[in-house]
Amino acid sequence: MCEPTYFGVDYSINPWMTPADWQNEHAERAKAQWGVLENTLRSTGAEITLVKAQPGLPDLVFTANAGVIHNGTAIPARFAHKERAGEEIHFTHLFQQLYADGEVDRVAMLPENITFEGAGDCIWDPRRQFFWLGYGFRSDLEAGAAVQAIMDAETHSLHLVDPRFYHLDTALCPLPDGSVIYYPGAFSGCGLGLIRSLVAPHERIELTEEDAASFAANAICMDDGTIIMSSCSEPLHAELQDRGFSQICVPLTEFIKSGGSAACLHLRADR
Ligand code: ARG
Repeated sequence: MCEPTYFGVDYSINPWMTPADWQNEHAERAKAQWGVLENTLRSTGAEITLVKAQPGLPDLVFTANAGVIHNGTAIPARFAHKERAGEEIHFTHLFQQLYADGEVDRVAMLPENITFEGAGDCIWDPRRQFFWLGYGFRSDLEAGAAVQAIMDAETHSLHLVDPRFYHLDTALCPLPDGSVIYYPGAFSGCGLGLIRSLVAPHERIELTEEDAASFAANAICMDDGTIIMSSCSEPLHAELQDRGFSQICVPLTEFIKSGGSAACLHLRADR
């Protein structure tokens, strides 16, 4: 994770971001909200490594976009927007540090012409043992084959079509029991067909637009079945409970003003 010391909405690269509406009090509230998320993760058993916050890089807090770490291999991201490109060097240093510390076995670079925004668009499905990839806004379709070759793991690529859900992790969250939370409106017809061909009807948790816009898909699911998200409706809460999950709501409304929530604010390194 990365502390929100310099977090703010300084530019606009997605429809949630309005720099003119961002005030100092939002930054203060963001720090408090992030602190609750960090404490919640630690209290549910997570060990957290912090990346040093950097002035001028307000989105560095969204460490899901640092890259992806899986089976001892780290692939650093390559950002689509120049506003975030300055983050790459810091995340690459982080991965080199993890390598030096023996936390990862290798750091593998993607071919230079491919953009790829890390775990924001590349999500491991713990039940199906493959990666779901998102493309269309931030990551290239070609990232799928590249990740597949480097990680030696199956990938399934989904075309994102709603600019509000520009990263896959804003619209899809596979859970450890095989259920998948997703917002149908985020995907092309082909993408939706692919999801429905790989996820059985009883495993589908389809979000309403309202839950999707509250970033309910942008959740963190701990191995013990605790799901952490900013907020959700009563019916979704009941549905998750019926499936045996216990839910913790950590309001992250200040980060939603930048187009991110719980999942975006962390990068898993334990899979
Ligand atoms: N403001 C950031 C951006 O637009 C938010 C990133 C959210 N990260 C995520 N994994 N969805 O790039």
